[in-house]
Amino acid sequence: MSDSSSSLGRTIKGGLDSAERASRDQILSLQRDRLAWSLRHAYENVPFYRRKFDEAGVHPSDLRDLSDLAKFPFTVKTDLRDNYPFNMFAVPREKLMRIHGSSGTTGKPIVVGYTAADIDMWADVVARSIRAAGVRPGMMVHVAYGYGLFTGGLGAHYGVERLGCTVVPMSGGMTDRQVQLINDFRPDAIMVTPSYMLALLDGFTKAGLDPRASSLKFGIFGAEPWTNAMREEIERDFALDATDIYGLSEVIGPGVAQECVETKDGLHIWEDHFLPEVIDPETGEVLPDGEKGELVFTSLTKEAFPIIRYRTRDLTRLLPGTARPGMRRMEKITGRSDDMIILRGVNVFPTQIEEILLAIEPCSGHYQLELTREGRMDEMTVHAEVREDAHASADLDVCAQRILARIKDTIGITTRIELHAPGGIERSATGKAKRIIDRRPKG
Ligand code: DLL
Repeated sequence: MSDSSSSLGRTIKGGLDSAERASRDQILSLQRDRLAWSLRHAYENVPFYRRKFDEAGVHPSDLRDLSDLAKFPFTVKTDLRDNYPFNMFAVPREKLMRIHGSSGTTGKPIVVGYTAADIDMWADVVARSIRAAGVRPGMMVHVAYGYGLFTGGLGAHYGVERLGCTVVPMSGGMTDRQVQLINDFRPDAIMVTPSYMLALLDGFTKAGLDPRASSLKFGIFGAEPWTNAMREEIERDFALDATDIYGLSEVIGPGVAQECVETKDGLHIWEDHFLPEVIDPETGEVLPDGEKGELVFTSLTKEAFPIIRYRTRDLTRLLPGTARPGMRRMEKITGRSDDMIILRGVNVFPTQIEEILLAIEPCSGHYQLELTREGRMDEMTVHAEVREDAHASADLDVCAQRILARIKDTIGITTRIELHAPGGIERSATGKAKRIIDRRPKG
């Protein structure tokens, strides 16, 4: 995207980007200009958007103020599937520098594309994120997000290079090897899913290494929901600063929002490139800042794959900026609307169970929720791992009773609890933990 305001947002090695230093008013004015461009770009170059806008009776020229965005239609995941593989692109295929995809759980993957300018912007926002997490030029960063069609590995990689750091492109899997290389190379920071960080913790113990004595000072964790209880656990076990990174392929990949290490109070959204809204998931109505709902994103500068009012299904609320006052924060994601379990009428998110488990001493943070149906009743079994030492000694029945009681008191449901020895819960091959196993009959 070429516009008069593109000087806002370049990465200045070591210091903050000019957009990170901008006032709220400067960001709002930048957003207005860029949003007008992005709507026009989508309308003129993607037949899907032209049709959708025409059907809704809106035109990019109807945008006078940022609030006018609410007149434009939403985009949902099935729209992207229906336009598989390349029909959402706003530039000719030859202009694409890269393609990524996300497989999801069923059906065709979502395909996303990037021009050279998009890759450049992405490297900038990831570099900005990593710096906000505490990493500085010259440090070494171990990247254990998967490399490939998944945006995690390569997205992180380009950002690490852009910041002027040394990247170790490890990708996911091979836990023993990861532990060995962390021990030998002595990286300052790691980028990985929080659940895989726990697998690395097991790996350290197995190798007879003290994780607190590792070289890691900063952990940048994302790609799945995780709680502040999990943060405390990881920070304590590894003696590092853990921050949250958020993103999704449809918007760009990692680097849409990032928590700042000095405040650890939710994630600053890089609003010079990505415009957030929070809506009521039932009515589609835009909610005021501070209210919880579904996060929606519009890209402001992307060339190859502009995305307008994309419904992420992620649940959070928008808060004013703190460490970066010009840009709003989003609260740590509590879950996805499609991860919400309704058990006998009560809404339950896996993150609620995670918080409870981590408050009970021997639980390690590896867990899964299994749903079954007996007669007409849905049942939930919480499968949780306990630590090695606890498994040998503690009274596991007492522990299970405590978990049961805590879930009943705080969420109001009765579940079954099964405690497992370390390694008893399957680790995910992709790095993203699978929290829910639904064995209820379909339909
Ligand atoms: O997971 C991009 C990414 C990679 C983000 C590495 C951070 C680090 P997708 O595979 O398209 O992209 O999945 C996107 O993952 O809609 C959320 O539901 C979830 N997600 C991503 N980051 C977080 C986070 C990448 N920090 C989907 N907290 C999103 C909670 C997250 N959920």
